[in-house]
Amino acid sequence: MSNPTTGKPAGAHLRIVPVGAGDAALLADLFARIQADPAAARFHPHPFTADEAAKRAAYQGLDLYAVMAIGDEPVGYGMLRGWDDGYAVPSLGIYIVEEHRGSGAGRALMDYLHLAAKLRGAPAIRLKVYQDNERARRLYEALGYGFASESEHGQLVGRLAF
Ligand SMILES: CC(C)(COP(=O)(O)OP(=O)(O)OC[C@H]1O[C@@H](n2cnc3c(N)ncnc32)[C@H](O)[C@@H]1OP(=O)(O)O)[C@@H](O)C(=O)NCCC(=O)NCCS
Repeated sequence: MSNPTTGKPAGAHLRIVPVGAGDAALLADLFARIQADPAAARFHPHPFTADEAAKRAAYQGLDLYAVMAIGDEPVGYGMLRGWDDGYAVPSLGIYIVEEHRGSGAGRALMDYLHLAAKLRGAPAIRLKVYQDNERARRLYEALGYGFASESEHGQLVGRLAF
């Protein structure tokens, strides 16, 4: 049965889940969109190729790669990395597809990642953001991140302690 308004399968609600083996096609779709998005010039944690999508879907380790989706429609992508490399404080990154920006999706994905980090015992989270990425900076500031005066590779470094 499908939703008569959207044509999408009925019951396709928003989900945020760690990327798993069944998400290869969803990730490939999302990564292709990220690659084609000029706004993603400011988001480059790793390549967004089809190969990388397959790798992420098969990833098993301490770090967290999460996808936000409605059925098979990608909404966002987020990560906490650094645990695999032995850091106590993970680095956060997020991306929301253009048509869902400004809806609270970014904030919801941040909340999920914050809770995941807290429940894993992280004392804090760090992230990097370009000075001119106003939208992202406003979101991080609203969530309580503090920014160091020194930049790193041209990006501001933010930190949120729990
Ligand atoms: C940054 C990004 C994740 C924000 O996601 P989003 O879904 O638009 O964010 P939300 O709708 O949850 O909004 C959260 C806050 O962002 C800010 N914001 C939202 N829309 C905005 C807009 N049009 N202009 C400026 N700020 C805006 C507001 O502070 C908002 O807080 P509010 O709810 O109190 O108004 C999204 O724009 C994105 O993916 N950008 C491209 C990739 C990127 O830059 N990633 C971050 C790299 S550091």
